[in-house]
Amino acid sequence: MSRPKRVFRCSSCGSISPQWMGKCSQCAQWNTLVEDVIEERKVPAVKSARHVEPVTFGSIASADIARRKCGIDELDRVLGGGIVDGSLVLIGGDPGIGKSTIMLQMAYNFAVSGMRILYISGEESAVQLRMRGDRLGVVSDNILIYSEVLLENIREQIQVLMPDLVILDSIQSVYSGEIDAPPGSVSQIRECAGILMEIAKGLGVVVFVVGHVTKDGWIAGPKMLEHMVDTVLYFEGDTSGAFRILRAVKNRFGTTGEIGVFEMKSTGLNEVSDPSALFLHGLGGDVSGSAVMVTIEGSRAFVVEVQSLVSRTSYSMPKRISIGSDPSRLSVLLAVMEKRAGTFLAQSDVVVNIAGGIKVNEPAVDLAVVMAIASSAMDKPLPKGVVSIGEVGLNGELRPVGRMESRIREALRLGFTTAMIPQANYDSLRGIKGVKLVGLPHVRSALDMLK
Ligand SMILES: Nc1ncnc2c1ncn2[C@@H]1O[C@H](COP(=O)(O)OP(=O)(O)OP(=O)(O)O)[C@@H](O)[C@H]1O
Ligand SMILES: [Mg+2]
Repeated sequence: MSRPKRVFRCSSCGSISPQWMGKCSQCAQWNTLVEDVIEERKVPAVKSARHVEPVTFGSIASADIARRKCGIDELDRVLGGGIVDGSLVLIGGDPGIGKSTIMLQMAYNFAVSGMRILYISGEESAVQLRMRGDRLGVVSDNILIYSEVLLENIREQIQVLMPDLVILDSIQSVYSGEIDAPPGSVSQIRECAGILMEIAKGLGVVVFVVGHVTKDGWIAGPKMLEHMVDTVLYFEGDTSGAFRILRAVKNRFGTTGEIGVFEMKSTGLNEVSDPSALFLHGLGGDVSGSAVMVTIEGSRAFVVEVQSLVSRTSYSMPKRISIGSDPSRLSVLLAVMEKRAGTFLAQSDVVVNIAGGIKVNEPAVDLAVVMAIASSAMDKPLPKGVVSIGEVGLNGELRPVGRMESRIREALRLGFTTAMIPQANYDSLRGIKGVKLVGLPHVRSALDMLK
């Protein structure tokens, strides 16, 4: 007979503690312990009836990974070229960002190609789903809608129907009757993920699981859910804006560098194959506080606009706000500007924003951030058609960045005529015609361009 026990479980590594602690004693993360209920079950004397012997690595037969494309290129790319049989994929994102929408659109594309899909909805009623299906134009008889939240029933239906693809929307809404804990709790999510993994691997069915993100930015419940599944995709973007970015943060069957860009319309998520066009408006040169750079995401380069607003502070501590790029990096760049280039902003509030809501975390954005700040502080626009790409070192030196040629070619394609780049990149770039390359050794020489 099992008996429930109240414990605290780390939502990052899953370790259990009898009492609450601010810091997990196993993984040293702060504020990750959440209250949970576990069942103490008797461990069976014989753990497994299956007897497995170790085998030599070379004797294992290799197999090609068969992938199926859904036809939504931006999604296929993020998945590493399509879905893989027997894989468990987690798709997370803020409320209302479009998780159910993309799942329905994907389901429809597969349904049209003859696959049978079981869409389990624990959150929305069948009627609600039908209304959305009509709006998106994705109603197909190859999609079975199943409004159920008990995982044992779901497992039974999957075994009976043997669909090609299962979509569970969402992991937080389902529960296993074998565990005495509420749906959405850490132990329920662990148990349910375990059962779903068993289904995916055992039956060779592809399972997509939708997960909500908590305020801390984690897929609610556990970070450890990410360890259990094969692929983790996150939807990013401003829900009040139209564009969405789908990013792979883990993929056992492909790279994690790729992103998919979508635009939310009343007819669903539309693919954006040319992201530069979405994030850029014009070639600059009109307003102060704006600098353009080219970022690399996976195999694609695209142009983004860095905006800055510098104003006299009315606080004793001036404000530094960075949206879309690293806030601590902003403080470093301001210190470098002051110490190495004599730009004093200690009495100014500084806001930096990457236009369009996209996040750029690579250091190659440094030079554009510096140029946008200086341009706003001096109230002088950068010349028209200029891109600024480069990492800024602590001594103010401009450090080279990777894949500069792809970046310059993308800028050139969009009509930019001048590229401010680190001297070291300039020395290694040859044969790009149609754009004036300005190699700069130091942030000071870059700022001189504004004078
Ligand atoms: N008629 C419409 N026209 C345009 N966009 C719409 C329309 N109806 C819904 N949307 C968009 O769809 C979004 C909801 O998408 P969806 O339900 O797929 O999100 P979700 O991530 O599954 O949300 P939840 O976390 O609530 O399940 C809305 O936030 C809105 O942006
Ligand atoms: Mg939803």
